[in-house]
Amino acid sequence: MQLSTATWQEVEAYLKHARGLIIPIGSHEQHGPNGHLGTDAICPEVIAAEAGLEDGILIAPTFNVGQAQHHMGFPGTITLRPSTMLAALQDWISSFTRHGFTRLYFLNGHGGNVATIQAAFSEAYAPWSLKGEAAPFACTLQNWWELRGVADLCKRLFPVGDGSHATASEVSVTYYKYPDFQKRVDMSPKIAPTGPIRDAADYRRRFPDGRIGSDPSQASVEAGAELVAAAKAALIADARRFFGEND
Ligand code: NI
Repeated sequence: MQLSTATWQEVEAYLKHARGLIIPIGSHEQHGPNGHLGTDAICPEVIAAEAGLEDGILIAPTFNVGQAQHHMGFPGTITLRPSTMLAALQDWISSFTRHGFTRLYFLNGHGGNVATIQAAFSEAYAPWSLKGEAAPFACTLQNWWELRGVADLCKRLFPVGDGSHATASEVSVTYYKYPDFQKRVDMSPKIAPTGPIRDAADYRRRFPDGRIGSDPSQASVEAGAELVAAAKAALIADARRFFGEND
């Protein structure tokens, strides 16, 4: 079930027997010559939506803009400053816990978000820790590409050039969801360079077309379907384990 298409009565009924919620979280940033700007939000959103359909877990709206300052050299990118994202995540978490959700499972699509999401969890727990009381909720963070079995599948599908940004895997997931928006682009070099990530000007100089270490021209709808199926099954198992921890 999706929170966005549920009624408040349906949510109230859900909360009578369940307390868990999956929140897809991503970014809106350039993904090279053939990747959608929304890739990092679309991937966790698609995987969570399919898990919700199969298992009945409630899925929150996608937190779809994140830490992308280093991609700001490319038009279409939107970034939050860390302080803005921390504040927004506090309000999201407080809104969910206000209504009785006690297990918040963030399914993340962007490596650059990890530090800020972890800091947001610490912010959320801190008032309880400082009061000397137990927090009545718990949060967890899982990157979709680190769900059980997914990294091995990525390696099998794309043994060369999956890369670390604008990967063949993530572009495949978006093509699975939006097959009419596939882009076929010749890329040079075939496999993009690798290097450190700093500010936006430095990023664009090091990685002129936006990719890091990848050849996403290998992306396909079929690979995306395989990745989503594997990630969905692993997500259901992992979320169910987390939701059951304190029941
Ligand atoms: Ni990405």
